Amino acid sequence: MALTAIKGFNDILPVEAGRWQHIEQAARRVFELNGFSEIRVPIMEKTELFCRSIGDTTDIVEKEMYSFTDKGENSVTLRPEGTAGVMRALIEHKLYALDPVARLFYLGPMFRYERPQKGRYRQFHQIGAEITGVHDPLVDAQLLNMLVQFFREIGLDEPQLQVNSLGCPECRPAYRKVLVCFLEQRLEALCEDCRRRMATNPLRALDCKVPGCIEATVGAPSMLDNLCQGCADHFAGVRRYLDATATPYSVNTRMVRGLDYYTRTTFEMVTGLLGSQSAVAAGGRYDGLIAQLGGPAIPGIGFAMGVERVALLLADQDFSDHPELFIATMGASERLFAFRLMHELLQTGVRTEMDYEGKSLKSQMRRADKLGARYSVVIGENEVASGRAVFKRMANGEQIDALLTVAEIRGFVCRSGNDLPA
Ligand code: HAM
Repeated sequence: MALTAIKGFNDILPVEAGRWQHIEQAARRVFELNGFSEIRVPIMEKTELFCRSIGDTTDIVEKEMYSFTDKGENSVTLRPEGTAGVMRALIEHKLYALDPVARLFYLGPMFRYERPQKGRYRQFHQIGAEITGVHDPLVDAQLLNMLVQFFREIGLDEPQLQVNSLGCPECRPAYRKVLVCFLEQRLEALCEDCRRRMATNPLRALDCKVPGCIEATVGAPSMLDNLCQGCADHFAGVRRYLDATATPYSVNTRMVRGLDYYTRTTFEMVTGLLGSQSAVAAGGRYDGLIAQLGGPAIPGIGFAMGVERVALLLADQDFSDHPELFIATMGASERLFAFRLMHELLQTGVRTEMDYEGKSLKSQMRRADKLGARYSVVIGENEVASGRAVFKRMANGEQIDALLTVAEIRGFVCRSGNDLPA
């Protein structure tokens, strides 16, 4: 029996790869425009890194990590997210000393043992960005604006930005108490998971998707009403900066993140188009994380988007690359001429194709169609002798009589809106 891939681990086939490249290129363009540089960190780290950053009692650490003991008896884990590894690298290489405001982005596979479904996989890909060293809410707004700009750049007006504040170690414990008090009166109505999490992470009840929990938490006290002055001012600052740039957002007081390192601003880009996997990108501030991992006491904020989810939102669009020109030949004697012309065009960056197998003219034209070539040309004895041919624009049948030279062909291929190298 032929082998198949592991459940929840997907192949990204050539038809999808064009969409992925479109997403990755747009992210690089927008992030670099905003002053971010790429960092590449290993996909495997010491297990302790994730326990100490994401939190021992989170679903990710409790249930979803791909951890194992390697041959040297070390406990190692395939990264379930990118922030922890990037912060480990920032501390290890003292990147904060090179630039007190480090702006880093990364992309690559992450691993979580979750129940696979549309938009949720066990190997998935994130594109993330992190800024460290700035407390000012201006930087929260800049990061959010960059994320919104990215979605605009790839042509999506979905998803929508939601923001919240989760407070800080000063005000969150008091809020937790108020919330636990509220939940205890409704214990019977809560699902088993929420009851279990009451002692460790009661806030999760606010974003539990079980209908009983949604109903039972209507009217629950909100973190926003319980922020300390510093956190309230910070959140008001974020909103002021977002308003100043007319960035559309809504406040979602029930947003709770599944990782423990968050403080103050948290946010998600949500869509109604992907069923229960509504978060296409998410993130927030983690002002205590770097110190917690043994680095200096500097703040940070970042986000990560799920590339599979972004790609699903673009699923009806075609990003595959098409040849500019298909050269068909009447017979075997013109193949050498066509081959040389194709070679010269390829050398100057014009994507050109020809028939490889000496097929009939009809089947060559079928192939030109299938490849989505923008122009085709048929070369016979007369064309070789005269050095001229009639090129056909495939989209509308328009005919262009032109010399069979690279300069002339590039002339009309470029004019038709293509950005070819000089
Ligand atoms: P997260 O919310 O766990 O945050 O993941 C961010 C995004 O990754 C999600 O919004 C979703 O689009 C995608 N994602 C997560 N799990 C899966 C999955 N199993 N299958 C497909 N896509 C998935 C973080 O990971 C934080 N490190 C984000 C961050 C960066 N916070 C600060 N800096």
